Amino acid sequence: MLVTGGAGYIGSHAAKALVRAGHRVVVYDNLVAGHRAAVKYGEFHEGDVLDPQALRSSMQKYGVSAVMHFAAFLDVGESVREPAKYYRNNVVGVVNVLEAMAALKIDTLVFSSTCATYGEPIETPITESHPQRPINSYGESKLVAERAFPHYERAYGIRAIALRYFNAAGADPDGEIGEDHSPEIHVIPRALDAATGGEGLKVFGDDYPTPDGTCLRDYIHVTDLADAHVRAVESLAARAKSGAYNLGTGTPRSVKDVIAAVERVTGRKVPWTLAPRRPGDPAILYASADKARLELGWTPAYPSLDDIVRTAWTWRQSHPRGYGG
Ligand SMILES: NC(=O)c1ccc[n+]([C@@H]2O[C@H](COP(=O)([O-])OP(=O)(O)OC[C@H]3O[C@@H](n4cnc5c(N)ncnc54)[C@H](O)[C@@H]3O)[C@@H](O)[C@H]2O)c1
Repeated sequence: MLVTGGAGYIGSHAAKALVRAGHRVVVYDNLVAGHRAAVKYGEFHEGDVLDPQALRSSMQKYGVSAVMHFAAFLDVGESVREPAKYYRNNVVGVVNVLEAMAALKIDTLVFSSTCATYGEPIETPITESHPQRPINSYGESKLVAERAFPHYERAYGIRAIALRYFNAAGADPDGEIGEDHSPEIHVIPRALDAATGGEGLKVFGDDYPTPDGTCLRDYIHVTDLADAHVRAVESLAARAKSGAYNLGTGTPRSVKDVIAAVERVTGRKVPWTLAPRRPGDPAILYASADKARLELGWTPAYPSLDDIVRTAWTWRQSHPRGYGG
């Protein structure tokens, strides 16, 4: 199994889950945002998905029969300022993956998609049939890929499952791997940073139409995401149909809920300041994951926000500077 982006946060957890489930894994990553030390499961092949030759020879060399494509950029704000970067890496990247698969007759793909493909929700919880109208080039770059899949299936027989993650969070419960983004844009690691004397946390808006005025999101444990990937690829191997699945807990949590959970788990205060709303931040985003439950048999093992924060905190305590130490 080729895992592009497997040196990154979610891909490294997926590689672990795949190896544990008995699959052979090759991580293909150019380390632009990932970490060599995060590749603890499977072989490592340093390479860029923007290099079609290298991608193809890696698939050939390892006799790959399925691909999980995580490699992408994912900072929504940056995607607004620099859409070209997102179209190049995320769109050209997935096209290269599909072309290499078609050329080598590899017919199984699991793709990292996102709730950002939905844009501003018109109803919650969000189901897979909710209209997809992204409001930034990041979401658009993932939707382009999703829309390409049926065409590649018809012409080249590639079957693809797109997994639309909500907010990935937490760390490997064994403490082997965790989250190390630079810059860190996600609220739980930032709140942990604030609790441990780092930069204070900014809360972007407290006047949303939500119970405590802060945005509601759906935090899903990274190990649960990894488990869904194993289920998705195994279901495709058992001739399941292509499709798309939301991955979330279905429970909305506010930014203030996150702060309270971090304070409970760490026993420390989280200093925070109020900042203006960010453009394009919907008030409420949470998933209906019934389809994944019914069709993939997937149920999150770590639905509790405290458990999610606890695993992130354990990782942070043993790796205060991420993979740097
Ligand atoms: N983190 C989230 O909350 C979240 C939510 C929804 C979707 N996703 C999607 O999940 C995937 C993984 O996200 P993550 O949080 O693990 O990010 P990450 O940055 O930790 O991992 C991405 C990995 O891809 C690699 N990469 C990027 N461009 C590459 C290229 N051109 N060639 C080879 N490798 C390349 C990076 O080095 C990194 O190791 C992404 O596709 C992202 O869009 C993430």
